[in-house]
Amino acid sequence: MSEETPDTAPAKTAGSGQDILRVENVSKRYGAVTALTDINLRLGKGEVLGLIGDNGAGKSTLLKIICGFQPPTTGQLYLDGQPVNLKSVDHARSLGIDAVYQDLALVNQLPVYVNMFLNREPTTGGLLNVRNMKKLAKERLDEMGVRLPSVNSLVAELSGGQRQAIAVARSVFAQPQPKILLLDEPLAAMGVKEGTIILDLVQKLKEQGDVSIIIIAHNYGQVLDVCDRVNMIQGGQITFDKRSADTSATELTDLVVAEYRRALEERQQEAS
Ligand SMILES: Nc1ncnc2c1ncn2[C@@H]1O[C@H](COP(=O)(O)OP(=O)(O)OP(=O)(O)O)[C@@H](O)[C@H]1O
Ligand SMILES: [Mg+2]
Repeated sequence: MSEETPDTAPAKTAGSGQDILRVENVSKRYGAVTALTDINLRLGKGEVLGLIGDNGAGKSTLLKIICGFQPPTTGQLYLDGQPVNLKSVDHARSLGIDAVYQDLALVNQLPVYVNMFLNREPTTGGLLNVRNMKKLAKERLDEMGVRLPSVNSLVAELSGGQRQAIAVARSVFAQPQPKILLLDEPLAAMGVKEGTIILDLVQKLKEQGDVSIIIIAHNYGQVLDVCDRVNMIQGGQITFDKRSADTSATELTDLVVAEYRRALEERQQEAS
């Protein structure tokens, strides 16, 4: 009788004993478009991993696979060393994986406090406890330093940065607290103050050490400040994996500029 071949066994990746998440040989195709090719990524327990790369590189596609929004075309995810096939975002959430999407998933026509608990309303005896929701929403946003007119405000009446902060707070304070938090460009719509609030929060979570985070961002300085390690995706492949302490914003920028020059030369050659 043939045993399963151990080619995806946990021992394969260095340090995998501490890994909360591993992504192995993952590819993703959308019809004729290949968005990801043979992705191998690991996330240590309590680690903050920065995912960087140009527009269209495949960062959001990868996060959407890890949060159960879409399946990979090929490849396997491992959670705590065990293979998992995520069936939905709710399934991933039940396993402790929670995401803040680039496109937020807030309901504009509902007030802030309802959005804070969307699909996870605290209940008392099975009933929605509005007073409790308002109180908790206010406490959590205050704790994050997010200033809003009121938790009764409609999301439609808020700025992009305020909306982003609500989406991040909702995930961070979800109960039970997620083991893996995926943040897709949480700083994109932020002013300096709001961006700092999110970065401080990530720093605080990191110090507590009970949540592992993948954060997609374009500002390399901020990434290096807050992340333990950085992976770069270029054209659907991970091309770079270093500890933040071992790289610099200059090195990361140079890599992207080199990619841009190569693409430009290719186009010029094709045109000539
Ligand atoms: N649902 C989809 N159908 C078809 N193609 C898609 C789909 N989602 C993404 N793609 C393609 O996959 C590639 C990667 O997209 P993705 O959104 O992952 O990029 P990204 O790295 O997050 O970029 P950005 O920094 O602009 O957010 C792009 O070429 C994109 O057009
Ligand atoms: Mg994206």
